[in-house]
Amino acid sequence: MQLSLRLAAFIAILYNSDVLGLSLPMRRASGCNGHVELCERPYGNTTFLGSHDSFAFSGNPLALARTQEVDIPNQLKLGVRMLQAQGHLNKDVLHFCHTSCSLFDGGPVEKYLKTVKKFLDENPNEVMTFVFTNPDNLDVEKYWKPAFDKSGMTPLLYVPSSTPMKRDDWPTLGEMIESGQRVIAFLDKGINGTDSDQPDGSFILPEFKMVWEDTFSSTNSSFPCKVDRTEQPLQPTDQLNMINHNLNAQVIPFVPSVLLSDRLNAPKTNGMISILAHANGCTPFTDGRAPNFVLLDYVNIGQGMEAVNQLNGF
Ligand SMILES: *[C@@H]1O[C@H](CO)[C@@H](O)[C@H](O)[C@H]1NC(C)=O
Ligand SMILES: *[C@@H]1O[C@H](CO)[C@@H](O)[C@H](O)[C@H]1NC(C)=O
Ligand SMILES: *[C@@H]1O[C@H](CO)[C@@H](O)[C@H](O)[C@H]1NC(C)=O
Repeated sequence: MQLSLRLAAFIAILYNSDVLGLSLPMRRASGCNGHVELCERPYGNTTFLGSHDSFAFSGNPLALARTQEVDIPNQLKLGVRMLQAQGHLNKDVLHFCHTSCSLFDGGPVEKYLKTVKKFLDENPNEVMTFVFTNPDNLDVEKYWKPAFDKSGMTPLLYVPSSTPMKRDDWPTLGEMIESGQRVIAFLDKGINGTDSDQPDGSFILPEFKMVWEDTFSSTNSSFPCKVDRTEQPLQPTDQLNMINHNLNAQVIPFVPSVLLSDRLNAPKTNGMISILAHANGCTPFTDGRAPNFVLLDYVNIGQGMEAVNQLNGF
């Protein structure tokens, strides 16, 4: 009798764990970005795997302007949670293109965002970051915001309480997931026509006020680190940081001016040793901390996700 009472009490607790204050939202059960530990980890203290020119995927080795081999859904399956892409106009529609839309056209930004939105709807415990570039200074209100709005992405976008956010001021992944605002969208320039204007309350965030990057498109496989791009007023140690861990090489014989993504060395570039050495080389500029974003070409090659897991302490 006593035993069955205890059993009944135990079952009652299981079904109503509020009794012990153990009630956690269901989403916590499967963790945040795949790890229970990351639910309590601030966004600014997390390392994410990034895909460089994520839209420029092709299985064809002769597509010289490609940077990736697998499409967006497969990149996301591999663990990519930071998507980088370059916006250009094609017939007055915002597309993601590599340098120009005649060289590599990844299609309309709205369509791209719909693809990512589908993944986010199917995976409610994931925090995602966009780092988009706007080399042609296209009007944000006219081209960028409508692409977010029409794709249905806007309600998911994180709006900081104030801009710029310091590295240690960001919420935890769990808080972002619970609030529903679990997508962070950075744009490198062109916000309100300048590189740095940012009306508070807007969802497209000025990248270099909150993120610094080291040298991009390096041709040195040792990836010597320095603070290459950043903006005032925050010090780099108060900003998030991205390592551009994608190697470029002279791919066309006798044409040294054409530098392309180095597919041949990708297994070594995307190996554990190279990524961790690069991260380590940046620690003088981060107060000893790991990078927030590890940006790779060919995310399906090498050990990108393993390296990111290690940087996160897993
Ligand atoms: C997170 O904090 C830990 C402990 O201070 C540190 O070792 C790690 O490098 C940090 N990671 C990032 C991305 O800030
Ligand atoms: C752009 O910035 C100016 C000056 O800060 C401001 O008056 C104007 O309302 C902004 N425009 C938009 C579309 O945000
Ligand atoms: C590549 O970077 C390493 C490490 O900083 C440096 O010693 C070397 O001289 C660089 N190589 C070239 C060709 O710049």
